[in-house]
Amino acid sequence: MPGGFYVIICPMSKIKFTIITLFEEAMRPYLEASMMWKAAEKGLAEFEFVNLRDYGLGPHKSVDDTPYGGGDGMLLRCEPVFAAIEEIKEKDPSAEVILPTPAGRLWTQKYAKELSPKTTPKHYIILCPHYEGYDERILKLVDHKISLGRYVLTGGELPALIIIDSITRLIPGVLGGETSAEIESFSDDENELIEYPQYTKPADFRGDKVPEVLLSGHHQKVDEWRKAHMKKAEN
Ligand code: ADE
Repeated sequence: MPGGFYVIICPMSKIKFTIITLFEEAMRPYLEASMMWKAAEKGLAEFEFVNLRDYGLGPHKSVDDTPYGGGDGMLLRCEPVFAAIEEIKEKDPSAEVILPTPAGRLWTQKYAKELSPKTTPKHYIILCPHYEGYDERILKLVDHKISLGRYVLTGGELPALIIIDSITRLIPGVLGGETSAEIESFSDDENELIEYPQYTKPADFRGDKVPEVLLSGHHQKVDEWRKAHMKKAEN
C-alpha cells in the first residue's frame, strides 16, 4: 500500500480525486486552505495522494529514464505509472484517468462542466507527469488528456489543482446557498466566457460611483442592466 494518503474518508462524496505525484507537498497547501477543503469537510469531495516513488524501480525507486533515439531530459517510465494506476483501478474500475499535458484538449468552462459529476459520483485519477514528458505507451491508460493552455509548465501539479478546483466548484453545495457557479453568466461556447461588471461597498470610491440602478433594489432593472453590460473575456 503506497504512503502519503491524507483524506477525509467519505464513501458518498460526489467527487474523488486520486492524485499521482512526486510533489504532494506542493499541492497540499492549496487543497487544505481553499474552498476545496470546505468541499471535503462537507463530504462533497475527497482528495487522495499516491506517491509515484512508491512504485519506482530498483534501490533508488527510479520513475524516469532517458529517451530512446536520444535527446535531452528524462521521461516518465511505464512500469511505475502502470503499477500505480492498476492498483487504484483494482479498487475502483470506474475511475477515469486524467493526464495534464500541453498536447491535450484545451481546458474550458464547458469541458469542466462535462467532467463534473451529474447524477452519480465520479472518481478521477490525475497523473502528474514531470521531467521532460512521459513514455507514449502511458497514453493507453488515459481517458482525458487536458491542456491548460498553449504554454509549457514544469509539471502536472499546477494543472491538476486548476482542474480539481474548476470541477469541484461546480458541485451543488460547494460554493454555498446561492449555487454561485450556476448564476455565473458563462456561456456554453467553448472559448467565450461572458461576465457583467460587479461592485461592492463603498457606493462611491474616490468619486468613482457604482451605477445607480444597482443600488435601486429593483431586481428586473438590475437584470436588464446586467444583460446590457455583459462582456466577453479578452483574448
Ligand atoms: N504540463 C506542462 N504544461 C502543461 C500545460 N500547458 N497544460 C497541461 N499540462 C501541462
